[in-house]
Amino acid sequence: MPKATVLIQGASSGIGLEFVRQLLKRQAPTHVIATCQTTNDDRLSNLQKEYLKSSIHRLDVLELDVRHQDQFDSFGLQVEQCLNDLKRERGLDMLINCAHIWHPSNRVETSLNDVLSIDLNDVYQVNVVGPLLVTKILLNVLKRGRSSFGSPSSNAPYSSLIVNISAELASINNNNVGGWYAYRLSKCALNMATKNLALEFGRQPTDDNSICGLKKDDKPLLFVAMSPGIVNTQMIHEYKKLFPKDAHFLTKTESVQRMLSAIDKLSLKDNGKFLDFNGKPIPY
Ligand SMILES: NC(=O)c1ccc[n+]([C@@H]2O[C@H](COP(=O)([O-])OP(=O)(O)OC[C@H]3O[C@@H](n4cnc5c(N)ncnc54)[C@H](OP(=O)(O)O)[C@@H]3O)[C@@H](O)[C@H]2O)c1
Repeated sequence: MPKATVLIQGASSGIGLEFVRQLLKRQAPTHVIATCQTTNDDRLSNLQKEYLKSSIHRLDVLELDVRHQDQFDSFGLQVEQCLNDLKRERGLDMLINCAHIWHPSNRVETSLNDVLSIDLNDVYQVNVVGPLLVTKILLNVLKRGRSSFGSPSSNAPYSSLIVNISAELASINNNNVGGWYAYRLSKCALNMATKNLALEFGRQPTDDNSICGLKKDDKPLLFVAMSPGIVNTQMIHEYKKLFPKDAHFLTKTESVQRMLSAIDKLSLKDNGKFLDFNGKPIPY
């Protein structure tokens, strides 16, 4: 029986797919639920075929386009079904929200002249509304997690860990070059959502008036926003001149290895933080 179940939202390519690969290779058998916009996607189905030979059920692939809110209820039920099939009274141990778009045109704005309302809305839907509503629909299964991530003990003080993949470009403090309007704004909003969720679900109520989504016996949930670093993708390549000369470019493998190792060291003290791929805080 797998030791933990992790859901990777936006797993058909790039960093999301690399998370799936590395989690499946973990020594403690991990069950992964991977989402993609269409289940006809070869990249995930090839991986699924590879793991069908394994004696333990390891990988489920579910369809989810985070722009389509009408898919969310049935998606929630499908996740419950995947967990029921494992025949254990347990929920999700970790959710990683990874899907994003840079910009609908794939050319980020380098001037206010390029900024359009429709583009801002599209980027916001995928990068902010998506992760927030996926968390909402999965809240009950997340509360039933027994996280074996981020804690060396099996009796972790939190039920589940939610990692929202953000970006260093969201740091207001570190913004020295400008541009990337829709993307920067969306990731900034995602960071605020992460902090809000940590406050609502990361602690017991202090008084009758405090905002708290936990019941008396619920364990808290641990939320972080994490930047994968600058990862060598085609898109990043095109905009290389916008990065500092000494910027360090990571491969997908390196970035995900570092993030997983940082995730393994998280504790409730990190709730609501914005961290880099090594687990070091980034100023908001
Ligand atoms: N690469 C970097 O240097 C870098 C730097 C900072 C932060 N990040 C963050 O790291 C995360 C992964 O980035 P990446 O470089 O791996 O990007 P990527 O290769 O472009 O992957 C993006 C993923 O999001 C999915 N997606 C897009 N729109 C979606 C929608 N409407 N519904 C569901 N899924 C959707 C894509 O699915 P399809 O394949 O079906 O389109 C794809 O799986 C993102 O959150 C990004 O902001 C990346």
